Amino acid sequence: MDALSEGRIRAALTTDIFGRELVYLPSAGSTNDVAKDLATQGAPEGTVVLADVQTAGRGRMRRRWVAPPGTCLLCSILFRPDLPPAQAHRLTMLCSLAAADAVTQVAELPVSLKWPNDLIVQSPIFNLQSPAWRKLAGVLTETGVTGQRLDFVVVGVGINVNVEPDALPALAPDATSILAETGQEVDRAVLLAALLAGVEARYARLRAGESPWVEWATRLATLGQSVAVSTSEGALAGVAEAVDEDGALLLRTPDGLRHRLLAGDVTLALPRRRQ
Ligand code: BTN
Repeated sequence: MDALSEGRIRAALTTDIFGRELVYLPSAGSTNDVAKDLATQGAPEGTVVLADVQTAGRGRMRRRWVAPPGTCLLCSILFRPDLPPAQAHRLTMLCSLAAADAVTQVAELPVSLKWPNDLIVQSPIFNLQSPAWRKLAGVLTETGVTGQRLDFVVVGVGINVNVEPDALPALAPDATSILAETGQEVDRAVLLAALLAGVEARYARLRAGESPWVEWATRLATLGQSVAVSTSEGALAGVAEAVDEDGALLLRTPDGLRHRLLAGDVTLALPRRRQ
């Protein structure tokens, strides 16, 4: 197992800002909660909170985020962007892209994105003949807002790194890990450093006025596909036609209507193979 320590993480970092203020906790409730507390106490942009295990890890839509101790990358990144609250999703896009690239760079594993913010891989591990999309990582963004201003944005990233295949069903029915997909363990300090390098480079471009939206939309496996989406208001099926700059999914249902969805869970099928 790749024992994490503050020294090893600091030695791996190549960034100037992100991760230079680093809070490493062997155990935390939720790294997002720790980062939000630090944000309200004035912690600077670029602060990163990292834990080896979370006792109250949270996912989207009030779900639990389960990760076996010492096997996953569980971190939260603090931003103080000069953006209106409606554009906070740009940071989710930016971190999802950086996480996908970091996994590909460090583990040579191709990663796609699934709306709104899952990292997925085409996985043959449970059925060699018929690969299925499986979830490798998730991103949870939370904001602090005063009036029309974003005080802070905390983006939490959870990547299943060195989780053994037989431990995956306890995480989620469709979960996978880098170890399960590649057969190789990855050093989480190196993966974190690659993630933060990708975040820092993309954030500089965002600050220069370039939205990560085009790159994000290009990496979405969802677009152009027939999908089922479960939302808090019920289930919808249709074609995922596009995403807009605020991260909403534009879904065309068979009755011809176009729905603009801001949150939900997409079920995506791989195209069937010809026999
Ligand atoms: C999801 O796919 O539902 C989002 C999962 C986000 C999990 C990460 S792990 C680090 C950070 N702390 C949390 O409690 N959640 C995020």
